[in-house]
Amino acid sequence: MTRGRFITFEGGEGAGKSTQVTRLKLALETAGHAVLTTREPGGSDGGEDIRALLVNGETHRWEPLTEALLNYAARHEHLEKVIKPALASGTWVICDRFADSTMAYQGYGHGMDRETIRRLHRLVVGDIAPDLTLIFDLPVEAGLERAGIRGQGEDRYERMGLDFHERLRQGFLDIAGKEPRRCVIVDALADMGAVAAAVRAAVRDRLGAEF
Ligand SMILES: Nc1ncnc2c1ncn2[C@@H]1O[C@H](COP(=O)(O)OP(=O)(O)O)[C@@H](O)[C@H]1O
Ligand SMILES: [Mg+2]
Repeated sequence: MTRGRFITFEGGEGAGKSTQVTRLKLALETAGHAVLTTREPGGSDGGEDIRALLVNGETHRWEPLTEALLNYAARHEHLEKVIKPALASGTWVICDRFADSTMAYQGYGHGMDRETIRRLHRLVVGDIAPDLTLIFDLPVEAGLERAGIRGQGEDRYERMGLDFHERLRQGFLDIAGKEPRRCVIVDALADMGAVAAAVRAAVRDRLGAEF
């Protein structure tokens, strides 16, 4: 059995990640691939309980290290119970946010010591890495405006200041610059069809997929 491919979508609030996760899943399924879409924080039964602690409530309710620990606790459940079994069975996994979001939000956004995050990462994730990470980039104001129109609650991070969101954006771009083989930056300001085409092109080029 060939291992499935692991693709992650990263970027700020309202960038269009969830929209494009759904579109990529459909395109890959049409080409005959088995695809599981999932998300972080969350993605497993217990992980979704942890998600609720992170995305609701007062903006300052957690210490940055607590947020990182909650994210990595949920990620451990997600990896062991959902992601690893799916990949082993040949299913492609598309994950709406993954570990780069912890580095961007807690590291760059909240200014947490990055080496501490890397230590948590080694403990929980080890050698597993996405085969491809799409980093959705757009001006902060545009993303927050889209997220505001979308509504649907879960807005604890959206309520953090513009400077926080600017640090996030720079953080994601920094991560992409450090790992160019894994990461592709997508212009998320383009219309949905153009973004979908860019995503498909990246999956074809980087993973050699035909679809
Ligand atoms: N390329 C796009 N152009 C304009 N609006 C978009 C685009 N992509 C998504 N949207 C809209 O913006 C909002 C946020 O998109 P969403 O996919 O939920 O972003 P994210 O998951 O990155 O927070 C939604 O209302 C969605 O319909
Ligand atoms: Mg989303």
